[in-house]
Formats: sequence, C-alpha cells, structure tokens
Amino acid sequence: MKRILFILTGVAVLASCSRKAETFSVIPMPNDVTIEKGTFCVKGAGIKIDPAIDKESGEAIGRFVQALETATGKKTKPGKDGFDFKYNPNMAAEEYFINIDNDEVDVEASCLGGFVYACETLKQMLPAAIYGGKKAKANWVLPCAKIFDQPRFGYRGMHLDCSRHFWSVEETKRYIDVMTAYKLNTLHWHLTDDQGWRIEIKSYPRLTEVGAWRDGTCIGKDMDSSDGIRYGGYYTQDQLRDVVQYAAARGITVIPEVDLPGHMVAALTSYPELGCTGGPYKVWPRWGIAKDILCAGKEEVFTFLENVLSEVMDIFPSKYIHIGGDECFDPFDKEAVFPWDVCPKCNARMRQLGIKKGPEAKHQLQNYVTARVQKFINSKGRNIIGWDEILEGDLAEGSTIMSWRGTAGGIKAAAKGFDAIMTPYDYAYFDYYQGPERDKEPLCIGGNLPVETVYSYEPLDGVTPGAEDHILGVQANLWTEYITTPEHLYYMLLPRMCALSEIQWCDRDRKDYNRFNASLDHTFAILDAMGVNYSLDCRGLVGLGRKPARNAAELAEYLEKNKPSW
Ligand code: ACM
Ligand code: ZN
Repeated sequence: MKRILFILTGVAVLASCSRKAETFSVIPMPNDVTIEKGTFCVKGAGIKIDPAIDKESGEAIGRFVQALETATGKKTKPGKDGFDFKYNPNMAAEEYFINIDNDEVDVEASCLGGFVYACETLKQMLPAAIYGGKKAKANWVLPCAKIFDQPRFGYRGMHLDCSRHFWSVEETKRYIDVMTAYKLNTLHWHLTDDQGWRIEIKSYPRLTEVGAWRDGTCIGKDMDSSDGIRYGGYYTQDQLRDVVQYAAARGITVIPEVDLPGHMVAALTSYPELGCTGGPYKVWPRWGIAKDILCAGKEEVFTFLENVLSEVMDIFPSKYIHIGGDECFDPFDKEAVFPWDVCPKCNARMRQLGIKKGPEAKHQLQNYVTARVQKFINSKGRNIIGWDEILEGDLAEGSTIMSWRGTAGGIKAAAKGFDAIMTPYDYAYFDYYQGPERDKEPLCIGGNLPVETVYSYEPLDGVTPGAEDHILGVQANLWTEYITTPEHLYYMLLPRMCALSEIQWCDRDRKDYNRFNASLDHTFAILDAMGVNYSLDCRGLVGLGRKPARNAAELAEYLEKNKPSW
C-alpha cells in the first residue's frame, strides 16, 4: 500500500511540475552562475531551516516560504527534504550560495543580507506570479543551477525625496520592497527641505505643525504661480521607526537626511529666529534654490541643530547621518547678495574665525557649520555624509562625500583620502526624462537619462589608482518636484533602478546591456505582479499614459501591436 502511495505521489509531482524552467533573467545578474540540466519542483516542497540561523534571517526565509505557499496554493512541508537553508559562518555578510538539483535546493549564507539575497534570487528564477500575493497557475519549477554570489559594492543606495511630494508609510514600504527585489541595501531618505519638513521633532513641534504644510504648489514651470491647495504631511516618530524596522528586516539601512544649512525654509517658517533676518518666511510653494538659510552666527541655531539631530539619531540607528550641505548659494545667481554676506551675526562669526572678506568667505563659513555639526554627530558615535559642496573647504577626517555634480567631487574626495558615494547627475538622477521625446513624457525637471545611459556608468572610471576602496558605492536620486503620484514615481524609478542595481552588484565583466535588456521582460512581469508601474521607453513606448501589460505574454503582444514606426 505504502509503495502504491509513493508511486502515486511521484506521478502527482511530475504532473504538477513541468521539466522546463523559464530562462534565467535575474537582475542584478549573479556574479557566478552555472545552469544545469533539470528542474526542482517548488510546489509543496519540504523546508529545513538550520537552527543556527539567526532570528531575522529566519523571518526573511519565512517571508519567502509564505510567498511560495500563497502563489503555488500549496503548503510546504516543514522539516522535510527540499529547500535546505544552512548557516555558513565562513561566508561574508552579503554573500550567498545556492545549489539547485532535482530533489533539493541548498541555500547557504552567514546572516540576514545573504539569506535575503538568496531568497530574492530564487524568487526571480521562479514565475513572476511569486510576487503577486495570490494563488496563480504557473510552471512552479526552479532550473537546476549553482550560484555563488556577492556584491561588488558595499553601499547600494536609492534616494527618495518626500519633501517636495509626500509619500505615505505604505508607499514608502512598497518602494523598499522594490529595492529589496533588486538587492539594494540603503534608502537615503530626504526628509527636510524648503517645501516641507517631514520628521516629527518633539522638542520643536512647530516643525510639523507649521513646516510640514505649504499653502499651495506652483503649477508646471511657472514658479510664481500657485494652485492654492494646502499640501503637506509628516511622519510621526513611531511611523519613522516602523519604516526603519521594515527596511532593516530586508537588509536595508535607512539614512536620514536633514539638509543644512540651506534648503531650510520650512524650518525657518516654523522658527523664524533661526534665520539671518528673522523673517517672516513662508514654506516654499515653488522649486529652486532659496536664498534664506540658517544663520551661522547665532548660537541658538547650533542648539537647534543638536537637539533636532539628537532626536533624529534616536530614531535612525544608521552609522551615517546625511547633513546635506548642497546649494546654500545659488551658483547661477552671480549678482545675488546672500544673507550671510550682509548679516551682522554671520559677519561677526567670520571675524571671530579669521575668515577674510571675499567670494570664498561664505564657503568657509559653511565649512565651520559642517565641522561643528560633524563634531556633534561624531560625539554620538556616528559619521556624516554630505553633498559634494562640503568638499569646498577644509573637511574634517571621517566625512563621506556624496558626489552629485558629476563624478569629479567623488574622485577628488577619494584622492584626498575621504570616502565617497557616487551619485552623478548625468547617470543617476532619475528625475530626468527617460529619453529625448520630452513632449510624450510627463513634465519633469529636465535632462535626458535613458536606461541604457544609466547602465553604462562605471563608478571607478577616473578614480586615482590606489584610491578605489574609498568609493563605497553608488546611488541614484529621485527628487520629486514634478512627481505627484505613485504611478509617476515608479515610472521614473523603473527600470532605471534595475540598471543601477547591476552597476552596484555586478563585477565589471558581468555587465552586458543586451542580456540585461532581454531580462527586463521578466522584470516587467514581476513589476506587474507587484502592481508597480514602470517606463517602457526602452521598448519604444514613450510616456506614462500607456496601459501597462499585466504579464510577460501580454507585454509581448502589446509590444508587437505597438511597434515603433522607425
Ligand atoms: C542636489 O541635487 N541638490 C544634491
Ligand atoms: Zn546670519
């Protein structure tokens, strides 16, 4: 009887799993993959989890198993042969190994990062419906394969601006889910700016009572206009901690940015005494570079910054705190007299510091602000990151530069012995148009950054030999002046973030645009299953207005019907 049951079970397994797996379309491409003959059927598979695996990794594996059970519609078998998750103390934190044969899948890693990435690779090797959160008919097999994998760069970031437009906690978590799928490990959260302050600070309640709200928003490119609609929002400290925890469970560190001493009009509106003139100020309804910044001559400004940053560091456990430092003085406004040039208190501070009058004086004063804030942050055991403007003075040891005005800042920083993160606008500004046909795309800030250009970026080009280790990694930035809806947000993000993920993860010789581009069809199906929008400009379908396909087959049909005319 037992034998008959065994035979029947065997037949059932064969009937529910085809021998043919999907093509290997994992992004970012693992660094060492061998595809072998055969498949492993995941429907109702056994699951063994080594008791030596830590709790967080166990939970990440649990989420993978849950997705598998939901999508296949079949419970897994705990403790039985099938998936075998093993603790391997000899592996680096983000390294993993997968060996899939006909009857077993071995997965090895040493901690959370490795297990998260192993599970994400497995998910991308399965039908896209694994991301859908509901039962789906599909060929639920993994191809037999051996994968040894770990990332090229330790810092793999994506930025999100929630000041210009505000994204709910749920939307931010979805953004983190998308980052997780492509093995990014850092969310740079731009939480304060002229157009809205988004962090609850208990010792300064007006920052959110007043500074989180603007009276209106400019219409299109007319900076003097306003739609007259009150706009805003903020995150409570509990909500911020919830996001930090959600990200951490997926191997993602959230780095908060409090942009200072510029981009502070929302804070000045809340506490006008922090500015050089005392105001009044108004939370900005427009985009651009504001002249009004924090006064560098008033001691209460430093008390304010230390109190705010103390609460920020209490919420965010990240090693790095981003202190901004960009665009304190509009470089295009050559005629301008900036408040620091004429403020008696700022001038007194310059005299006290022995700063000589002249065009460099205000940059040296900014340097003083940066150094004081850095000292405070260092005293709490954390390090600063600043935009590359902070490199314009004598920077204290231990600062990390975020190179955004091209690559020169990062290259110079690394040569001087500072760490740098590369986010050059010409490869990594996802608020730029996807291609040259601007009139077909939703209005955005400008520029032209097709996915293929993003992909072509090589972060170590031009870096002084011997200074390469100072390039911690790469990030792309998503500023949201012109982005008002999640549909538009993901259209700008994807698939460019997928290209970014290969720059961050893949060894130089693993990158191949044709292979990557072909893999995007599977990624589009994954994003459809996740309910996340994306751009199809790289398929010749320009613009947000098209109806996204819901799966790879529908996409193929859509592309066939909508072939570009050239
Ligand atoms: C920046 O784009 N202002 C850093
Ligand atoms: Zn001043």
